[in-house]
Amino acid sequence: MAKEAQRQRVRARSAEPGAPREAGPRPETDVAAPGGARGARAEAAPEPAPAGGPGARDDHGRRIRRAFSEIAPRYDLLNHLLSLNIDRIWRRRAVDRLGWERAPEGLYLDSCAGTLDLGVELARRPGFRGTVIACDFARAMLERGRWKLAGLPVRPACADALRMPFPDGVFDGAMVAFGLRNLADAQAGLEEFARVLKPEARLVVLEFTLPASPLVRGLYLVYFRRVLPLVGRVISGHPWAYSYLPASVLDFPGPVALAERMVAAGFSGTRWELLLGGIAAIHTGRRAGGRGLAVRDP
Ligand SMILES: C[S@@+](CC[C@H](N)C(=O)[O-])C[C@H]1O[C@@H](n2cnc3c(N)ncnc32)[C@H](O)[C@@H]1O
Repeated sequence: MAKEAQRQRVRARSAEPGAPREAGPRPETDVAAPGGARGARAEAAPEPAPAGGPGARDDHGRRIRRAFSEIAPRYDLLNHLLSLNIDRIWRRRAVDRLGWERAPEGLYLDSCAGTLDLGVELARRPGFRGTVIACDFARAMLERGRWKLAGLPVRPACADALRMPFPDGVFDGAMVAFGLRNLADAQAGLEEFARVLKPEARLVVLEFTLPASPLVRGLYLVYFRRVLPLVGRVISGHPWAYSYLPASVLDFPGPVALAERMVAAGFSGTRWELLLGGIAAIHTGRRAGGRGLAVRDP
């Protein structure tokens, strides 16, 4: 019953203008489709309209895309500074959890790829012979990371994570670092991952979370609410992007709830590990078999 309702939901979504099609990528994103030969050129692709049509979801997408476009020039600097470079270790750990070794020539997705660090981390792994499609709807972020590519098999694609221009079941694995929290509808984002992954392919989600220990949590919140927004505002010059960050983390589901959401979106074997006293977490799950439709009560 729930499955059928979900199928109807997915069918309805697919009927929306610009919704993902089974036939292949949408023309505005010049991305190598699996089996296709074209390379991706972020600069050639107009930024997609945020998914969701008119309304709150649409506004959210626009706001977020604009904010990231504006902070793009300072994004890497602030990332490494505010995390004392720990973000690099976390991305490495996330790639460790992807299980790409099972299909080293496969096609992998880095969604909400920003300045491409996660995709580059995967593409640089010795023995990796596949391709990474690095998808983000803020072209300025992709452009900012372009210098890191230097011949690596990473193809940037300017596209919305809620409506990716890829056919069903094409990726051998997918990952998202600090991106799921930014989506207007994280559940729809997880379902979109389930749609584009092959059965049994793995999804890795690296995201901030709140430490369970009251002491660590208290200290973390002081840093997060006071220091981080101030440093972020001064260096980026953006009035609210770095105040939005702590607010979005506070709003985001905790590790247990996120694991449940992944299951609801069609992932199995879901597990997570906490990083640095629980200020971040890496969730993994396998796309359950079947026809690739997420199973969730509407
Ligand atoms: C905090 S950054 C993370 C970037 C990168 N993954 C990293 O580890 O540094 C979040 C990124 O998600 C992108 N993003 C947010 N919502 C998106 C959406 N609906 N579709 C595509 N990209 C999105 C933003 O443009 C931004 O580049």
